[in-house]
Amino acid sequence: MRAEEWDERYRAAELVWGARPNRWVERELADLPPGRALDLACGEGRNALWLAARGWQVSALDFSAVALDKGRTLESSQDPAAPRVAWVHGDATSYRAGQPFDLVLLCYLHLAPTDWAAALSCAVRALAPGGTLLVIGHDSTNIADGVGGPQDPAVLFTAAEVAADLAGAGAGAGAALVVDRAEAVHRHVDGADRPAIDALLRAHRG
Ligand SMILES: C[S@@+](CC[C@H](N)C(=O)[O-])C[C@H]1O[C@@H](n2cnc3c(N)ncnc32)[C@H](O)[C@@H]1O
Repeated sequence: MRAEEWDERYRAAELVWGARPNRWVERELADLPPGRALDLACGEGRNALWLAARGWQVSALDFSAVALDKGRTLESSQDPAAPRVAWVHGDATSYRAGQPFDLVLLCYLHLAPTDWAAALSCAVRALAPGGTLLVIGHDSTNIADGVGGPQDPAVLFTAAEVAADLAGAGAGAGAALVVDRAEAVHRHVDGADRPAIDALLRAHRG
């Protein structure tokens, strides 16, 4: 989908993804000491705002200006003592971070393969030494065996595929990434007769 189509989608509903953080983000990152975080394709900022509330200095990027405005509005209704999120209107496939980040998050960004490779490469390049990369998305098996999410297999991935892509994505970007977790995880969906299947990859720069 193009940015204009995402804008339309975000205009059409109150909060498309809700205000609570994604459950895997919460599970994986609750114990990580705060630092600088980059949320690529942040949407309305549910994960960025949760990180900021935990003391992270967050840059949150999306190419939908409407989504970013909704993030700012949500932020203004939350704890004023939390660090402010830096909302960045930009393209996740070409973003060049001005500084390294201790955490880079890619959460449910589904793109055609060339664009996906570019976004993964931007994410890897933005990672500081020791920094954590968390990639979450609808798993390739979700179309046949899960529920919801994009129905085009070309934009889905498995965690194993992301792990395999990382070596190439990190070329020239410093020390190699160490994969800590690469798996399919099941997510309960209210009203559905089966869980959604997500791909989850967690890695860190050695
Ligand atoms: C399914 S939403 C996920 C939003 C958020 N990560 C979350 O989990 O709540 C996908 C987001 O990717 C954004 N997006 C898609 N392609 C993008 C691109 N090339 N650059 C930046 N954002 C993009 C869309 O605007 C949308 O907000």
